Amino acid sequence: MHVPVRVGVIGCGNIFGRYATGMSRFPGLTPVAVADADPARADAAAASAGLVACPVGELLARPDIDVVVNITPPTVHASVSEQVLAAGKHLYTEKPLADTVAAARAGLAEAGRRGLLFGAAPDTFLGSAGQTARRAIDDGVIGEPVGATAFVTHSRAETWHPDSTFLFRPGGGPALDMGPY
Ligand SMILES: NC(=O)c1ccc[n+]([C@@H]2O[C@H](COP(=O)([O-])OP(=O)(O)OC[C@H]3O[C@@H](n4cnc5c(N)ncnc54)[C@H](O)[C@@H]3O)[C@@H](O)[C@H]2O)c1
Repeated sequence: MHVPVRVGVIGCGNIFGRYATGMSRFPGLTPVAVADADPARADAAAASAGLVACPVGELLARPDIDVVVNITPPTVHASVSEQVLAAGKHLYTEKPLADTVAAARAGLAEAGRRGLLFGAAPDTFLGSAGQTARRAIDDGVIGEPVGATAFVTHSRAETWHPDSTFLFRPGGGPALDMGPY
């Protein structure tokens, strides 16, 4: 892969600003272009982050993009990811991978067939808490696990998200939206 990695973003909604800020902190990442089904959103995001705005098809055809970040709503994650992989780009998608297990598996298999990397947010399991727990299991410190319990508490997204309807549709809800954390 080209280093620094050149990034295109599809989806310029609520979370875009945090991705733009986050990417600017990593010298190994060079954001290049953004696209959105709503061109006005793409234009606004591009202006805010100093990037180029273009239609999705044009972004996917750009030879100067190595990885595409998919931050569209969950119901279209799988179809957008499919287009990204078909364009021969590595992929990083927001959770969930898809709104069905079958579609998620199909995407992973397609990436494997094409020799492309397919990563997903959140990467909290790479943090110290998850890795410490993993090591304890791998090293046999706690014996053979027979069950697990996890809790997440969260304020209601409809109190702060400008359009939280996707969280109440397939691909949203506590299990698929918060479960990955
Ligand atoms: N908002 C948050 O705080 C937050 C936090 C963590 C993860 N996420 C995840 O990030 C993803 C996006 O969340 P958001 O809050 O930014 O959503 P959003 O609805 O605000 O923005 C989604 C954007 O995707 C665009 N879009 C929809 N379909 C498209 C398509 N087929 N092609 C191109 N663009 C398309 C929409 O026009 C919109 O601008 C979701 O999966 C969500 O679960 C959001």
